[in-house]
Amino acid sequence: MRWLLGAVVGFLALVGIIASATHYLQEPYNPGFREYPVIVALHVVLGGVYLALAPFQFVKRIRSRHPGYHRWVGRMLVSIGLVVGATALFMGLVIPFSGWIERAYIGLFGTFFLLALIQGFLHVRAKRVALHREWMIRAFAIGLAVATMHLIFVPAIIVVADPTQSQLQALSAASFLVAFVVHASVAEAWIRLTRKRRVPEASGAKAAYEPIPGRG
Ligand code: HEM
Repeated sequence: MRWLLGAVVGFLALVGIIASATHYLQEPYNPGFREYPVIVALHVVLGGVYLALAPFQFVKRIRSRHPGYHRWVGRMLVSIGLVVGATALFMGLVIPFSGWIERAYIGLFGTFFLLALIQGFLHVRAKRVALHREWMIRAFAIGLAVATMHLIFVPAIIVVADPTQSQLQALSAASFLVAFVVHASVAEAWIRLTRKRRVPEASGAKAAYEPIPGRG
């Protein structure tokens, strides 16, 4: 089960990195990208870096053998993630390709991504390792949804041969929504399935959680 999830995550991370790397090889489908090149570049490049490095943070062997690496790369990934999330909110709210529906789902999932990163960081600073793990899984799952979005969107525009602008907007919105909902749900299911102890309430929790053996 764990190896299967690892393989799927690795594959999706690769797809996301390819989406970032090939972004500048094609005409932007969203004309708004031309108006804010720096914001788009920050999002696309740092998003690719986030997906390249974040999967290794979940590998237990790396965490236990190189705790210094995990800590420093983790701090870098939180900083990068905050920029990726803030630029995602900017693009989704100011230059949405799919209009109001995009404002709604990016507002929701973009905010959730940022909050999950912040929660993950605050919990580990307070030594609540189990809660740190859960929030970092939630953040990563949302970031990874971008790859699933591409895996739905690209075949869809091939199937709907020669799509109109409004079909493209609808397909983009549907692909984003399905990807976010599936990823958030799978992350939540995985967290519940692998949660070994009762996680204390965030407020007033005194327990300094030790990493749980065998947990990736
Ligand atoms: C963490 C890894 C991420 C990567 C690698 C990434 C990659 C990209 C790329 C390459 C684009 C340009 C569009 C394209 O070429 O298809 C893009 C656009 C966008 N991304 Fe991300 N992204 C990431 C995270 C996120 C997150 C967490 C959100 C929000 C929850 C988000 C929201 C958006 C939005 C709103 C756009 C503009 C869509 C439009 O055209 O309206 N991204 N992203």
